[in-house]
Amino acid sequence: MCGIVGYIGQNDTAKSVVIEGLTRLEYRGYDSAGISIKTEDGFKTIKTTGGVDNLYEILPEDLDSGNIAIGHTRWATHGAPSEANAHPHVSMHGTISLVHNGIIENYETLKTQLIKEGYKFKSETDSEVLANWIEFHYNRNYSEHENDLSNAIRLALRDVVGAYAILVTETHYNQMIAVRKSSPLCIGIGDGEYVIASDATPIIEHTRDIIYLEDDQMAVISLDGGLAGNPDIHILDVENQTVPLDVEKVTMELESIEKGGYDTFMLKEIFEQPSAISNTIRGRLTLSAEDDLMMGGVENVMPQLLRAQKIFIIACGTSWHAALIGKTIIETLCRIPVEVDYASEFRYRKPIIKQGDVLMSISQSGETADTKAAMEMAKEKGATLFGIVNVVGSSIARMSDSGIYTHSGTEIGVASTKAFTGQLAAVTLIAIKMAKQLGSITNENYADLKRSLALIPKKMSAVLLQKEEIFKIADEYSKPEYRDFLYLGRGINFPIALEGALKLKEVSYVHAEGYPAGEMKHGPIALVDENCPSVFIAPTDKSYDKVLSNMQEIKARGGKVIAIVTEGDAAMSKIADHVIEIPKTDDLLTPMLTCIPLQLLSYRIAVNLGKNVDKPRNLAKSVTVE
Ligand code: BG6
Repeated sequence: MCGIVGYIGQNDTAKSVVIEGLTRLEYRGYDSAGISIKTEDGFKTIKTTGGVDNLYEILPEDLDSGNIAIGHTRWATHGAPSEANAHPHVSMHGTISLVHNGIIENYETLKTQLIKEGYKFKSETDSEVLANWIEFHYNRNYSEHENDLSNAIRLALRDVVGAYAILVTETHYNQMIAVRKSSPLCIGIGDGEYVIASDATPIIEHTRDIIYLEDDQMAVISLDGGLAGNPDIHILDVENQTVPLDVEKVTMELESIEKGGYDTFMLKEIFEQPSAISNTIRGRLTLSAEDDLMMGGVENVMPQLLRAQKIFIIACGTSWHAALIGKTIIETLCRIPVEVDYASEFRYRKPIIKQGDVLMSISQSGETADTKAAMEMAKEKGATLFGIVNVVGSSIARMSDSGIYTHSGTEIGVASTKAFTGQLAAVTLIAIKMAKQLGSITNENYADLKRSLALIPKKMSAVLLQKEEIFKIADEYSKPEYRDFLYLGRGINFPIALEGALKLKEVSYVHAEGYPAGEMKHGPIALVDENCPSVFIAPTDKSYDKVLSNMQEIKARGGKVIAIVTEGDAAMSKIADHVIEIPKTDDLLTPMLTCIPLQLLSYRIAVNLGKNVDKPRNLAKSVTVE
């Protein structure tokens, strides 16, 4: 996925607003970047590989700032990161300049047609094909007396298959056109100026008034006074009908997208977890045994949840690990069968979805294309859609019949941390509330679980206090000989083993595998030697003794062991080479504590190996293409 941003307004600040905006959006893709500024003689376009810093460096001093500019930060899909493949793409005859986030699936067909029309291409991208396809339609119908770029774009898009959020500017008129189909796009309404972007992060320092474009909507923003004397901006639906401006207020705080004194966003977000969980439970969790949990989003679909024959949970990446833990918590407390799937697999394996089934989607960004596509399929089959999402106003939140926000705050670090524990807290709240209604837990158990959950932020802080000890262990394993790690856990902490392994892979590029500890002896134990450390997630729960024996099996083969244990656990510290203690809590809540040392371990190893932990290679904060 990429980040796109545009500025059109009375102020001569287009260049700086777009460059700053790209810096804010860089977590969405950072292999190349570019800007295109509208000038008297057409477009001044500068592109480069690498991040926005590189772009900043090569901007000519004397470059006008202009009133209209578009910019792009890229996560490559078609064509390797290069200056030619970077956006913006200016069409062959120079009439339009375009930035695109998404994938044009039938770009080769369109390209073949354009080549017949004499078009030549400078890049390998689907997006340049789109720019030329629009220009082709524009020039074919162009008349000096009628400004109809919007019609040309509408005509051109009729033949386009795929996902796109695009910003288009042109040489003839002072206007910008924004179109959304599947990929996110929102418009910040300032005083005589508009900032259009993939999300709100580049907008909030200019205005809090925002419009979230819906699918198949087009915004026409004109400095030349709009069509037929209408105000500067209007939005058209797929039938070319004007739709009312649905302006909302953004609540995101500027400091939430700043590092706040930390070296990196990842470390800041790891340390924000206690307050983030407090936000997730605030206003929802009351401690009295009688009181119900206050969650309107759950109440809206409680009948569907309680009578569901089956609950499906779909997600990707770290959110999928939260889904696995959600399965254990819901099945344990509510005794309703839960089926978990990678969203990218779910869609194509023809799952058996019946009317009345519930499909829960877990997503930090709320924009992951695989998850959205699976939701559309489940919707068609009559499932109730329930979203657990962090980003307010995102597509998955809008597509769901109901849902809850995790309120973890903006997460910029590409490797998810606080949003993950927020998802665990959210699914726990939902399960406790449902179990109470179902009568599948006792009042005592209900009160205990609420009390334990309320104590999690404090216990997280206790774990975070061990940062230096954990960093010392990480320093020992940041050496070239440690190229493979095994992460092992049982029951509700098996997904934490998967998450720990993923974190290390994501930010340090060191190979790691998560496995159920009991499964280790059926294969992966072959990897074990003095250079393949094993990280055990081993709180004192019902599988404790079994984990202890698995640890001895590793030690018997000369493997090094790092163990996450419950405070005061003497037995493990006799066997393991290193132990990191977590406070005692309810078995179902341990994942919210056991994952933190693993986040810090992977963070420190990555920093020691000189990696950019906030923008790991090849990754993006969420992927809006399938
Ligand atoms: C990946 C991110 O692109 O998408 C991961 O790098 C994330 O951090 C995964 O877990 C799923 O994203 P989301 O937003 O749907 O939770």
